[in-house]
Amino acid sequence: MATISSTWRVFLLIILSLCPITLSATVVEDLKNLHPPPHFNSTILSNCLKNPSLRYCSSSPMMDFDEIFKFTIVASHLCNESKNPTCVETFPNVDLKNRPNIAPLYLSFDFFWKYCPLSIMSIDLSNNSMKGGFPTDVLYCTQIQSLDLSINAFSGDLPIQSFSPLTNLTFLNLSYNFFSEIKLSDSQFFKRFNSSSFLHSGALLDEKKFTLKAVILLVGFPILVILVVVCWVWLCFQRPDFLPRKLQRTRRFTPAILKAATAGFSNNNLVGMSDVVHIYKGILRDGTEVKIEMYWDDIPRDSYRRFVEECKVLSRLHHKNLVRVLGWCRSRKFRAIITEWTEEENVEMWLSRSGPSWNHRLKVLKGVVECMRYLQEEWPEVNYELKTNTILLSDYMEPLISRFKVGDQTSNRKKIYRFGVFLLEMIQNKKGQEEFDRSYGEFIKYITTLDPADLHKMIDHRMEVTETNFHQVKQVLSLGFMCIDQSNNERPSLATIFNIIARAYKVSLVLPSTNHRIFHGERFKGHMPVQIK
Ligand SMILES: *[C@@H]1O[C@H](CO)[C@@H](O)[C@H](O)[C@H]1NC(C)=O
Ligand SMILES: *[C@@H]1O[C@H](CO)[C@@H](O)[C@H](O)[C@H]1NC(C)=O
Ligand SMILES: *[C@@H]1O[C@H](CO)[C@@H](O)[C@H](O)[C@H]1NC(C)=O
Ligand SMILES: *[C@@H]1O[C@H](CO)[C@@H](O)[C@H](O)[C@H]1NC(C)=O
Ligand SMILES: *[C@@H]1O[C@H](CO)[C@@H](O)[C@H](O)[C@H]1NC(C)=O
Ligand SMILES: *[C@@H]1O[C@H](CO)[C@@H](O)[C@H](O)[C@H]1NC(C)=O
Repeated sequence: MATISSTWRVFLLIILSLCPITLSATVVEDLKNLHPPPHFNSTILSNCLKNPSLRYCSSSPMMDFDEIFKFTIVASHLCNESKNPTCVETFPNVDLKNRPNIAPLYLSFDFFWKYCPLSIMSIDLSNNSMKGGFPTDVLYCTQIQSLDLSINAFSGDLPIQSFSPLTNLTFLNLSYNFFSEIKLSDSQFFKRFNSSSFLHSGALLDEKKFTLKAVILLVGFPILVILVVVCWVWLCFQRPDFLPRKLQRTRRFTPAILKAATAGFSNNNLVGMSDVVHIYKGILRDGTEVKIEMYWDDIPRDSYRRFVEECKVLSRLHHKNLVRVLGWCRSRKFRAIITEWTEEENVEMWLSRSGPSWNHRLKVLKGVVECMRYLQEEWPEVNYELKTNTILLSDYMEPLISRFKVGDQTSNRKKIYRFGVFLLEMIQNKKGQEEFDRSYGEFIKYITTLDPADLHKMIDHRMEVTETNFHQVKQVLSLGFMCIDQSNNERPSLATIFNIIARAYKVSLVLPSTNHRIFHGERFKGHMPVQIK
């Protein structure tokens, strides 16, 4: 038996409490020649009593003392070969980097790895051109923090599951090997390492992720951009009503919006049609009911532009007595103007149907004058029609001027004249009397033949004239005559007209309507002189 080296003895005591061995021979020779000393079995057992976590202590079914003895020989050689600073107490490194001559040998001592000393933290077997399958034995050392198997020729499958007990592994290098191709990104364990641990190893980690990112960046992103752009273009040019309200150019409608509003231009929504115009009732996305007048006429480009310009102006008009123009639409096939939806009763129908009271008639007149003033002051370029059959009535008994357009200037004088006719019609209700046809001229002719003093003939019989409103009726009537008086150069101004009508309306509200009639039917026929001027 060889002499005992004191250094070695301490090492053995601490790690293995072993028999004396010298390291003069090679590990292979030592394994062949050395034998356990007499107290080896009991020393091992007492070690296990002190530190039961030592791996050889839990070997089953029975401790193989022979094998444990060989393990101690390999351990002591390996410690020295790995250039650990001391091989006295425990050793932390298995460093067989660039040692192609001995690394395969040490790797082949499976009994050593089976009992892998708990002190080992780092295993480096890199750059040894080692062949064969993955060296699973090293994974017995579950406590290691660092494992480098790079630059070898290992092949076959990576034992992915066997890695999971290595909870403290922070450094791993499997680069430059020939493992079968496998996607490691699926395994939670390998996510803690990046691609530089698997360069050219066959195993793929971030390469896949990288390609995925590249694919996303190079293909996905442009597709996304294109989609967003297409979506945006679709929204802007087809359905701007889906855009946030702030971004909507509310006055321009697209054919797609109109189509959606009218259930695909369905016949149920068609409320009127002629050769060139189709009128639809529609409901916009926000619930607004609209009237859509679609013109299928083929007009020159210039007129198209003028149409849009006109619509732009009209859509800016805003008055309670004006049908609101919400916008327009132009397409290659048609142009359309979109206005708010109004129930279709006009003043003419209203007059003949219900024979409204004085007070209601004044309310309508007042609304019309207000609207005329608004237009005169703010939109003098807008011309409008004042006829009992084109002025509509809202649910609140407000008149709504429904025909108007830009340009085609009419003088104020003429406008006042037309208002006068409208006023007289309102009081007269000539349409209730069959003898007139619908023409304007006829009515004017008729009205001028009347004797203004003949109040009875002047006014609608169904309207009550009482003691109290008599003067207002008279005054308003004479105002109407003043407006249509061709011989007179001085027509009343809109302001004057407004004042008279507003005052009459106010009085008609204040006065109790229970006043007994002083004028009805035959009783006062011809007795009430009307002062004109
Ligand atoms: C320890 O290892 C070195 C090489 O790292 C070697 O030269 C030396 O002979 C070894 N010592 C013993 C006692 O085996
Ligand atoms: C130690 O145990 C082995 C069996 O594992 C046995 O063969 C050997 O004789 C024992 N040695 C001593 C000194 O008891
Ligand atoms: C690997 O070992 C060879 C010699 O066997 C040496 O030339 C080379 O530099 C080593 N490579 C690394 C990365 O250590
Ligand atoms: C990892 O390290 C901790 C603390 O050092 C230790 O308690 C634990 O046992 C180690 N894990 C393994 C698998 O060795
Ligand atoms: C990989 O991780 C290490 C730290 O673990 C870091 O130093 C290195 O830069 C990383 N490499 C890449 C490509 O992310
Ligand atoms: C693994 O080893 C290769 C080759 O030496 C090297 O290029 C790579 O950086 C190493 N990876 C890490 C994580 O150190």
